[in-house]
Amino acid sequence: MCGDGALAYPIVAVNEANTKHLFDNRYGTGQSTIDGITRATNILWAGRQVVVVGYGWCGRGVAMRARGLGSQVIVVEVDPLRALEAVMDGYRVMPMQEAARAGDIFITLTGDINAIGKHHMDAMHDGAILANSGHFNVELNLEALAGMAEKRREIRPFVEEYTLGDGRKLFVLADGRLINLSAAEGHPASVMDMSFANQALSSEYIVLKEERLPIDVYRVPHEIDAEIARLKLASLGVQIDELTDEQRKYLASWEEGT
Ligand SMILES: NC(=O)c1ccc[n+]([C@@H]2O[C@H](COP(=O)([O-])OP(=O)(O)OC[C@H]3O[C@@H](n4cnc5c(N)ncnc54)[C@H](O)[C@@H]3O)[C@@H](O)[C@H]2O)c1
Repeated sequence: MCGDGALAYPIVAVNEANTKHLFDNRYGTGQSTIDGITRATNILWAGRQVVVVGYGWCGRGVAMRARGLGSQVIVVEVDPLRALEAVMDGYRVMPMQEAARAGDIFITLTGDINAIGKHHMDAMHDGAILANSGHFNVELNLEALAGMAEKRREIRPFVEEYTLGDGRKLFVLADGRLINLSAAEGHPASVMDMSFANQALSSEYIVLKEERLPIDVYRVPHEIDAEIARLKLASLGVQIDELTDEQRKYLASWEEGT
């Protein structure tokens, strides 16, 4: 929007703060996505082939938690760096078309459109479950699926069964909307506190600035990010060490130890 001149006021990109995406996206979405799918379906995760589409902060969290429950996790990515990270984190990485044949449960977390499309659904086995936890309900191409289906019915809250022409049944959760917000309770308050602190302190930062900030997109100032981490640690009763003067001087110097 900024590049197109469509931004009407200065913005702080709160998602870029470490105290946002490292925790809300990874641990919040990781836990609540699994929670939403479990509440909707009561599936056993152990031994299932779980396909995580998008290995960003949210995808990392979901993959980690699914593995913790005993699932075999397959990651689908388009970014080579993130795909490589997933490989070295110990997951199987493959194109979506291949994963479509292998998966039992598919979870999209890409922010992208049609991350799972018609040709992928064509390849899925009978009984596959599809859920989305990314933004928004366009990650699964449900229009295409509706076109492929001969019959549709809700078999329990948040679970819609699509019966295809060849008899296969695919199960779509919560109409492809964010499953953690639909079928569960979203993130626990004890991780949202940091996201809301970022929003509140970033708003204050803009309002209290002496001169009006030019219209642009700003990062959350490091001091705010660090202060939120400090406050969160304090609220958890966790204490940490501080650098000594000697250590601070050593770390800032290049004359010693190099
Ligand atoms: N469910 C929730 O409560 C919740 C919470 C936070 C964020 N989100 C949403 O989740 C989504 C992901 O957030 P994030 O922080 O992980 O973002 P991110 O940008 O870190 O990760 C997204 C990843 O998806 C990959 N990707 C994009 N298109 C793809 C495609 N077609 N196939 C495979 N991979 C693809 C990107 O390369 C990237 O690595 C966003 O849309 C965000 O708004 C949801």
